[in-house]
Amino acid sequence: MNIFLTGATGFVGGELLVNLSKRKEVDKIYCFLRAFSEDEANIKLENIFRIHHDYYDEKKIIPVLGNLFDEHLTEYLIKNNTITDTDVIIHSAANTSFSKIYDDMVERANMGGLEKILLWAKQLPQLQTFLYIGTATICGKDIKNRLVFEDESPNLAATHLVKYTYTKMHGELIIRKHLPQNKILIARPSIIMGDSRVVVPRSPVILWAVATVNQLRFVPVSENAMLDMIPVDYAANAIVSLLFAKRNHKVYHISSGQAASTTTTKICKSLEDYFTDLPPFHFVNKSMLNQVKLWAKGKLPPESELYKYPQYLDYWHHVFEDPSAIRILLAGLDPYLGFAELGQVFDNTRLLTDVPSIKQSLPAHVYINNCMSFIEKIDLLEGALNP
Ligand SMILES: NC(=O)c1ccc[n+]([C@@H]2O[C@H](COP(=O)([O-])OP(=O)(O)OC[C@H]3O[C@@H](n4cnc5c(N)ncnc54)[C@H](OP(=O)(O)O)[C@@H]3O)[C@@H](O)[C@H]2O)c1
Repeated sequence: MNIFLTGATGFVGGELLVNLSKRKEVDKIYCFLRAFSEDEANIKLENIFRIHHDYYDEKKIIPVLGNLFDEHLTEYLIKNNTITDTDVIIHSAANTSFSKIYDDMVERANMGGLEKILLWAKQLPQLQTFLYIGTATICGKDIKNRLVFEDESPNLAATHLVKYTYTKMHGELIIRKHLPQNKILIARPSIIMGDSRVVVPRSPVILWAVATVNQLRFVPVSENAMLDMIPVDYAANAIVSLLFAKRNHKVYHISSGQAASTTTTKICKSLEDYFTDLPPFHFVNKSMLNQVKLWAKGKLPPESELYKYPQYLDYWHHVFEDPSAIRILLAGLDPYLGFAELGQVFDNTRLLTDVPSIKQSLPAHVYINNCMSFIEKIDLLEGALNP
């Protein structure tokens, strides 16, 4: 089987690539990636394997240089005879930014770029499956504090916290426009955070938000808000296993489900047990953040409630040389807090039923213990400045 994989240099795609490269059913993996030259592409691909000392088989892994923004992408792929024998496309590439400043790029990559890949895909002679890495969060922000099922999305009436989930929802509709049902497989991961193994995770993204809350010690999210989080190694293994399984559905959540879900309180408890020298976590109303921002600006009115927490004010003075850093961190944190507050958990019955080799994931408050030394090293300001 020959697989065309996009997004291999990313958090999920990298793990998918390594996992796929170990499968005996897979002959070649064409990796679509951005690079200035073949040499640079090969170095990027080799680095994906180097991070966890996996075996890199250069005969099996073939770079295909390209960019989702390229207006001639479809023609360029059609002309590339090397990839005509593609059996499966796994589309993991996306612009995953939550920041408004990238909204236009997010739409161009996640909708326009996807459509260009599909226009090539639909004329491939032996395409069996187009596996789209979607996201469970396409259900939008109207569903709160309950279990969410695959069939509830895509829902055009849903409203979204960020453009990213809106474009991922439309991505699913675009696929249905171009390909017949029997060629479509949609895997919708929930929130992917870190790695359950004792390894350097491929990306700090969600761990950055955890590390930031850990540093602040004020938690502006409801106590006991439910969270559906899975580690990237679990996500990749489940997605690849799903690809090779006998399936009864077209759409699957790749998630913790209710049984392995976690809560804000449980995550904070795990952090407290590790970072014993920091003040205890304190759950506050989100409106308290405005006071923190004013304090960081030196403009907090004297009668403000925040002054009732001198322990935290002293602590912030101590850890942040320049308190204005707190404002930058809070701005970066904002969309993550929005997702956490939704309390959504994604049903994973379909996955566990159709793919018996995949068991329940470890709950995030358990496997996060393997990420603690990494959390300690995350450069918080750097993460906030690259949303
Ligand atoms: N991480 C999560 O929590 C999560 C949860 C649910 C679903 N997902 C889905 O999983 C997929 C992968 O996400 P991720 O977390 O791995 O994201 P990521 O780490 O940001 O990786 C994104 C990948 O897409 C590539 N890409 C972005 N723009 C491109 C362009 N214009 N042309 C070509 N390639 C481009 C990136 O390439 P460069 O290296 O060149 O930038 C990178 O390989 C996405 O579809 C996302 O929606 C992620």
